[in-house]
Amino acid sequence: MKQIQIAIDGPASAGKSTVAKIVAKKLHYIYCDTGAMYRTVTYAALKNKVALDDDQALKALLSKIEIKFVPAEPEQRVFLNDEEVTSIIRTPEITNNVSVVSAQPSVRADLTKRQQKIAAQGGIVMDGRDIGTTVLPSADVKIFLVASVHERAVRRFKENQEKGINTPLDVLEKEIEERDYKDSHREISPLTQAHDAIEVDTTSLNIDQVVEKILEIIKQKENQY
Ligand code: DC
Repeated sequence: MKQIQIAIDGPASAGKSTVAKIVAKKLHYIYCDTGAMYRTVTYAALKNKVALDDDQALKALLSKIEIKFVPAEPEQRVFLNDEEVTSIIRTPEITNNVSVVSAQPSVRADLTKRQQKIAAQGGIVMDGRDIGTTVLPSADVKIFLVASVHERAVRRFKENQEKGINTPLDVLEKEIEERDYKDSHREISPLTQAHDAIEVDTTSLNIDQVVEKILEIIKQKENQY
């Protein structure tokens, strides 16, 4: 069976990484979380006191950093050079600053190249905002996951509570709306649905149902080969 490329895009908290991980595991494919790469660069910039909108300084910083994914259970570990950043890149400080960093042209160009290299052999499930449009425009399967702002805020609220973070629901709704706006209105590679992507609305679906839907779409595609 051909090892295909699967692109999963969509706005923040639509459930991309949760389902992408499960789909990759079921297919014995590699999973690449491109949001984690943008988050890692944001962490590196804050740590090195690089201004988050200084494109040239970020370019110089990127030339010195390696971002590695190491398979592990229950989740893949993320490294910035030799420092593990798996948890720290999920903190509100990073979440609230990542949109500025991910709008910088040098950052997008650099990470896009790294992502294309990771996906080159196929057998990959990659999630993000611009995978179907820019990173892997010829991906065999393109999924665009959406869910209402309220539903996404409720999901983030529950996730946060498990981690002991108590941001109120209305604040989370506002943050999600702001991030949607920034991700969709930046000049380079804004969040948009690729013309050949299949939209899956996850608002009233549970994780298993979304995974099943995506596996069905993949199966239909594979039958065409
Ligand atoms: O999926 P996430 O929330 O971890 O992504 C973090 C941020 O990174 C998000 O606000 C937008 C940006 N991002 C991007 O611009 N392009 C991608 N392919 C993935 C993420």
